[in-house]
Amino acid sequence: MKIFLDTAEVDKIKRFAALGMVDGITTNPTLILKAGREQKEVISEICKIVDGPVSVEGACQKAEEIAKEGEEFASWAKNVVVKVPMGEEGIKAVQILSKKKIKTNVTLVFSAAQALLAAKAGATFVSPFLGRLDDVGEEGMELIRQTVCIYRNYGFKTQVLAASIRSPVHVVGAALAGADAATVPPDVLEKCFRHGFTDAGIKKFLEDYAAAKKRG
Ligand code: G3P
Repeated sequence: MKIFLDTAEVDKIKRFAALGMVDGITTNPTLILKAGREQKEVISEICKIVDGPVSVEGACQKAEEIAKEGEEFASWAKNVVVKVPMGEEGIKAVQILSKKKIKTNVTLVFSAAQALLAAKAGATFVSPFLGRLDDVGEEGMELIRQTVCIYRNYGFKTQVLAASIRSPVHVVGAALAGADAATVPPDVLEKCFRHGFTDAGIKKFLEDYAAAKKRG
């Protein structure tokens, strides 16, 4: 499973890219706001650090406007993917952008029916938001499983990008479900490296190594 980082914070991207763990990046207006930088400037910098797909989202609502803005985003770097909100206008925009060979990521997907339509429209990625479904008492992982199953049944090329990931449990669940990628916030990726038993085991082995050395 590919791991994308769900952030526009360059220091965090550099940290995990140096470990070879960043296959792509996803951003949204909230993450751009959090990064505290101008969108084009920060996306252009990110695209130089990461070779893989970098998703960029705007704020247009009408298909033609989403597509026009998407063309502008795509001119910033060759690895830009245009995030398009799910809906009739978004689906139209995906079709316009696909004809121009511009990659798309259909975002804010909360049902398997929406995921099916995104694939039929020719989206490059679909982003089912599993954490936000869990937040309201639905089982987000079921949406990932259904989407993967539907795409396999019909051989759709659209990649399933598990989004709104909140914990390492979500990362593992997405991998078990067969998602092509998961977009993971930096703090969750950091948690994936760690386990209390690993830390305790390292400590004990270091102590015993030193004791054995001392004894000779
Ligand atoms: O990038 C979109 C998605 O991952 C956002 O997640 O945590 O705002 O629900 P969240």
